[in-house]
Amino acid sequence: MFNNVVIVGLGLMGGSLALAIKKHKLAKSIIAYDNSPKVIDYAIKQSMVQRGETDMSLLRQEGDQDDDLIIIAVPLSAAASVVEELNPNLNAVVTDIGSAKNHLQLLSNNLSSSHGVDNNLQHNFIPSHPLAGIEHNGVVNATSDLYENAKCIITPFQSNSPDRVHKLAEFWQAINCTTYYMDIIQHDRIFSYTSHLPHLLAYALIGTLAHDKNLATIMSYSGGGLRDFTRIASSDEKMWTDIFTINNDNLISALGSFQRFIGKMRHSLQSNNEQDIFALLQHSRKTKQLMLQPDTHGSSRDDEIDYVVSPCEKITGEVSVDTDKSISHRAIMIASLASGASQISNFLTAEDTINTLKIFKKLGVPITHSDDYSDIKIKGDGLAGLKPPRTSLDCGNSGTASRLLCGILAAQPFSSQLHGDASLSSRPMGRVIEPLTQMGARIYASKKNNMPLLIMGSKNFSPITYTMPVASAQIKSALILAGLYTSGETVIKGGGSSRDHTERMLKNFGYKVCRNKSGDVSIQGRQILHATHIHVPADISSAAFFMVAASITPESSITLKDVGINPTRTGIIEILKLMGGNIELSNRRQYGNEQIADIDVRHSKLKGIDIGRELVTLAIDEMPVVMIAAAYAEGTTRISGAEELRVKETDRIAAMVAGLTNLKVNAKSTADGAIIEGGKVQGGEVDSYNDHRIAMAFAVAACNAQKPVHISRCANVATSFPNFVKCAQASGFNIQQIESSCPETLS
Ligand code: S3P
Repeated sequence: MFNNVVIVGLGLMGGSLALAIKKHKLAKSIIAYDNSPKVIDYAIKQSMVQRGETDMSLLRQEGDQDDDLIIIAVPLSAAASVVEELNPNLNAVVTDIGSAKNHLQLLSNNLSSSHGVDNNLQHNFIPSHPLAGIEHNGVVNATSDLYENAKCIITPFQSNSPDRVHKLAEFWQAINCTTYYMDIIQHDRIFSYTSHLPHLLAYALIGTLAHDKNLATIMSYSGGGLRDFTRIASSDEKMWTDIFTINNDNLISALGSFQRFIGKMRHSLQSNNEQDIFALLQHSRKTKQLMLQPDTHGSSRDDEIDYVVSPCEKITGEVSVDTDKSISHRAIMIASLASGASQISNFLTAEDTINTLKIFKKLGVPITHSDDYSDIKIKGDGLAGLKPPRTSLDCGNSGTASRLLCGILAAQPFSSQLHGDASLSSRPMGRVIEPLTQMGARIYASKKNNMPLLIMGSKNFSPITYTMPVASAQIKSALILAGLYTSGETVIKGGGSSRDHTERMLKNFGYKVCRNKSGDVSIQGRQILHATHIHVPADISSAAFFMVAASITPESSITLKDVGINPTRTGIIEILKLMGGNIELSNRRQYGNEQIADIDVRHSKLKGIDIGRELVTLAIDEMPVVMIAAAYAEGTTRISGAEELRVKETDRIAAMVAGLTNLKVNAKSTADGAIIEGGKVQGGEVDSYNDHRIAMAFAVAACNAQKPVHISRCANVATSFPNFVKCAQASGFNIQQIESSCPETLS
């Protein structure tokens, strides 16, 4: 991977790096720089390095090849002076391993004043922070395993070349670290809590004991608690003095939060308030349990629920399902970029869309809302009105929020970070990163193009003509939103019949967008978005569950009120009609550029059909419940062209086929769809895999099943349709929500 690797500073960390590089055979030769001749002697004798130097001025000769690597592993306070020793015209990738970074930002800024604006060092010096270490120091404690399975945070500068950043990431991955990217300011804020404060507290506790007159007695009775809590107080005090001084501001504010907690605890103790003490401890214990769960970057739920759904008599009445998720996300985003005060009525008050609202608040947009969030007022300050966020932005479970935000944030003059829950963190983001990069974006993704993402601000953003590899409204919308910020025409081809809410809503805001019959879109950037009023209709994707429930349950007759019937979303109606469904639309009208109607559905005998790509696109989110309709239909239903279902909140083809099989339906998956033999549906247990639409689809399956269906892990229904159980019960479903029996035993 490298020709020469130069390690400056051969303590525990630098020495362990030398051993890891040797073990993984990553360099032709390893060269060490250290002030101590003894350390260099030791490293050469142990064959850790091929060559050693104690004269730092020789560093200027190192790193002239672009397959060289220089790692600065000296104490933090010395790192800046090492960088200054380096040749500004070097070609090597240069990194450090320090656990605080803000001093390096200053250093990077200084590089341009000392060496000229475009010096190589500015492109090639990229800070990193491997989360590894033990409390013992010195080269004698070095081990080749120190970095195995560790996380490594890379905090690129604006001036870094993306290809050099990727090369550095490949290096850390080659010694078995998982790499993440972070904004330098956020890095120091986060690590003040997760690393610097705990070290300070460990030192503080030992310091407290050290000043006690009875130290000797106390020490002779110290047990595991004290030992575990203060293990890190054996760390090198010089190193920690450096870290504490460099990250001073953040550490003081973390210490302030700690003091507030301690203050509460002291108050509860003084008033001997057992209830308060218990509540404080319980909250901490629950938080600790969340921390022990697999990595979800802060978004994780502790309110797991299951559904138990028994067969019902019939589905009847008038139902107003929750409002449209796609339109609600877009309303917040576009109104935030508009000039003036916009109003959104009937906003979807679900977890996904509320996350989007909170994100735009964090981006500095003044947003107010009614208590139940259904009425929103947004005071946009135009396309340039967003402000840098202070923390990472949480997209929760939402692919739409994350992809569309990439388009908006990539075009801002500031950096931002996006993260999401476990499901979102495994969904493909390369599909937006790739075309946005062509437009000039710099987006760094973890692992295989997954969240979390670091989106660096970009000054050179230009329009592109792009043909999408999949007909995805999310990719299309991300590029349209990015296109708003360019000074030319962005053309997006291959959209087919993917949903067109973005295009329609931009027109509502007075922005000209062209969309031809085959779904290609072109948009001229830098027009003005004029504030307006958006009324959100009921979501046809939520209504779909009731359409199928009424279709498969004898004697049912239901009216779904005020449902959005945008022609790119009505695939479910077409599919059910092709299957023999009894569906009628009435009271058609238009709000803004979106059409709305009431939908009447009656029970009917369904028959199996073939469903191809075009219909799948028009019913992409409804396919799980279409598979339930297929299970009740006479004959075989063949679904093809549906491979996109494999990269939704879960692999929806696999999840549906597994669940249907558990309910004794003859179903099998194909690479791009499924084949389902209709007939009787038995009861049984199914897993929703935390996917809201899988959970609701199987609740529908139970309506006319032979026995009850138990569906596990249904809490994510709150991401899109929080009133599902209420609406279902009101229309005749026999549905109960129970606390999850044993979520930890499920895969
Ligand atoms: C959505 C687009 C669809 C859909 C998703 C919402 C949107 O995704 O599955 O639930 O609001 O743009 P793709 O466009 O990626 O298929």
